[in-house]
Amino acid sequence: MGQSVDSTDFYSPNSKWQDLKAYHDKLKSIELTSFFIGDKEEIMNRVRSLCISIPIDGSNFIKIDLSKSYLTQESVELYRNLADSVGLSEKIQTLKDGGRLNVTEGRDVIHTVLRESEITSQLHLHSPLGLSRKQEIIFHSLKKMKSLCDKLSSSVLKTCLNKKFRYIVNIGIGGSDLGPSMVYEALSDFPSTLGSENISVHFLSNVDGNALDDLSKKIEFTDALFIVASKSFTTIETLTNVKSIQKILIKRISDNQSTQVESNKNEFAINEAMRRHFITVSCNAAEVQKFGFSTSTDAFLEFDEGVGGRYSLWGPVGVSIALKYGFRSFLSLLAGAHQVDAHFYTANAQMNAPFLMACAEITHTNFYGWHSRAVIPYNERLSKFASYLQQLEMESNGKSVNVDGTKIVQHSTCPIVYGGCGTNVQHAFFQLLHQGSEISPVDFIIALRKGNDLCDEHQDWLVANCFAQSQALLLGDLKLMTAASSVSENKDHTSKPLSRTFQGNRPSTMIVMEKLTPSSLGALIALYEHKVFVQSILWEINAFDQWGVELGKSIARSIYSEITESRDEGEGHDTSTEALIKTYCCHRN
Ligand code: F6P
Repeated sequence: MGQSVDSTDFYSPNSKWQDLKAYHDKLKSIELTSFFIGDKEEIMNRVRSLCISIPIDGSNFIKIDLSKSYLTQESVELYRNLADSVGLSEKIQTLKDGGRLNVTEGRDVIHTVLRESEITSQLHLHSPLGLSRKQEIIFHSLKKMKSLCDKLSSSVLKTCLNKKFRYIVNIGIGGSDLGPSMVYEALSDFPSTLGSENISVHFLSNVDGNALDDLSKKIEFTDALFIVASKSFTTIETLTNVKSIQKILIKRISDNQSTQVESNKNEFAINEAMRRHFITVSCNAAEVQKFGFSTSTDAFLEFDEGVGGRYSLWGPVGVSIALKYGFRSFLSLLAGAHQVDAHFYTANAQMNAPFLMACAEITHTNFYGWHSRAVIPYNERLSKFASYLQQLEMESNGKSVNVDGTKIVQHSTCPIVYGGCGTNVQHAFFQLLHQGSEISPVDFIIALRKGNDLCDEHQDWLVANCFAQSQALLLGDLKLMTAASSVSENKDHTSKPLSRTFQGNRPSTMIVMEKLTPSSLGALIALYEHKVFVQSILWEINAFDQWGVELGKSIARSIYSEITESRDEGEGHDTSTEALIKTYCCHRN
């Protein structure tokens, strides 16, 4: 499905896939609406069995309603057989242990270890008890983050002009930006406990100079603490931004010197500024040093290469969140994720939310041929959630080669993920979702309790819209059904022009939480991380590498050299690209 099949490849079909395919071939004649018609008790049973609620903390919970999908009790059993055939349980155990899942890069995968309660519950101690070596390293790195938070909130950290910091700027891209910036925005209603309320956080990712230009108009660089987050510390976008910021900062510091100081004093001031204004976060100490930063101070937060970029917000890459909202809130984020980890590790297949979410999407993608999914939070604070998920899902599972290096021929893999905030997107692309020729399943996400002090009218409308959209996608314009009615009796399409009819039968998932808090947000993110993981195992791909982004990076490096060294012709360009480069060179400056 969707993949070109090279008949020379060795191909051994998994019979469990074939069982699923055969099952869905039969199920296809059944409309989604029919799951909601007939015996009330049966309908209730289906809805109950496909709604999983995970308690988070206090009265907060996260509930996943998959009843409006094409999942059935029978298909879940078949998915369980498939899972057994590819060793999902063993792989989950390896994930839990932080073991070697990233085989193509020869790395462990340890992001779930970052949020283990065994570690976080001991942070008040000087040295932890009974932890493994891996856990101890994480313990010390979390301690370092905590101490940085304490120093910032108690104003021990000062600018080079001995003032309090007013801004934090996270410089990073991809996983070193999307997670922290999404969480920063998501928690903006949440009171910061011991956080730095008067500090605003900014995120600089794009190499486009306009991004830095905009930032320099918004903040005073001499009042900013810069966090350079880069797992590899070789990412061009990040390093280019850091170099320019350093230049601007040095200029501002020099401008600030009231009298002309001798050059050695000036140099001292500049070194001091670099020391006070920059925190580096990376796995690659050698590259950090090569760039000119010290790695032997508290301002260097190191993490293990087993933490993938798109899974890194749980550790030092999340330091901007911890600095802003307080370390306690950061720990709540981790605790919420850990609740979902515990659910994922222990719940049986029929009740396992990430497993069921993975199966529902595989059903829609592989057996119904719907190759996209919309993610629509009805919550302004989650307006960056879809962008965050795009990297989590598409960088993890956007692959067409098996974990053992052979081409995948049996099925397609990750659908295209897109989205935006409800209700705004109802007035943008929902037309296509309701009546377009492409079917695109939807994830709705909503928090029941509002995060503002405005009257209930706003929240009531928000909730009404969210639930209405999921019903409209399911039922179309069928009239309200009674137990005795049937789909055909209710389809009163004859009196209406076709352009005004809604066929329905379009699947969606509803994710409801009581309130958006650090812990429920952590739970929501972990839910998707594990869904992606299950899918990767069922599709037999490595979710933890990203070779697909390397080619573009290396070509960009060579084009950059050609442009900046004014070489006439580079090697290996197609004629169109070559002409584009020439055009740019003519218009440069
Ligand atoms: O886009 C590729 C990628 O390597 C991502 O996986 C990563 O999150 C991003 O670039 C940034 O990388 P780094 O943190 O090493 O700067």
